[in-house]
Amino acid sequence: MSRVITFGTFDIFHLGHLQILKRARALGDELIVGVSTDALNFSKKQRNPICCQNSRSEIVEALKCVDRVFFEESLALKRQYITEFKADILVMGDDWQGKFDEFNDICQVVYLPRTPSISTTELIEIVKER
Ligand code: CTP
Repeated sequence: MSRVITFGTFDIFHLGHLQILKRARALGDELIVGVSTDALNFSKKQRNPICCQNSRSEIVEALKCVDRVFFEESLALKRQYITEFKADILVMGDDWQGKFDEFNDICQVVYLPRTPSISTTELIEIVKER
């Protein structure tokens, strides 16, 4: 039984989000997802998400490939979350390549390639232009 953990904002849920979650789940038997809170998102990206944390987590939790969701309150708590949820594998998109190698002492760290040509930022720009 191996448990996979991953993190993200998952705002304006799109195909890139679905594909990384499906691929993360395929690496183990259970997938736990840390959805960043609105406050954490603001501190990371200097903007409030379009969809609030309750909407974002409800969407992620409803997916067949996701077993459990929790709120990621702070970037500084990653080690604690990995330990608390007894995760064997940490999955991150390769936009974070190398950035989480420090957790190799408690779990396997896997970076998956991002789905090309789609992101929340791009979707917001496209909608703004129309
Ligand atoms: N992701 C992906 N492929 C994409 C977009 C996102 O694999 N095209 C992955 C990210 O690497 C991350 C997870 O989905 O592991 C959540 O990413 P998030 O930051 O919520 O989505 P983005 O679309 O990248 O958002 P933004 O444009 O605001 O950075």
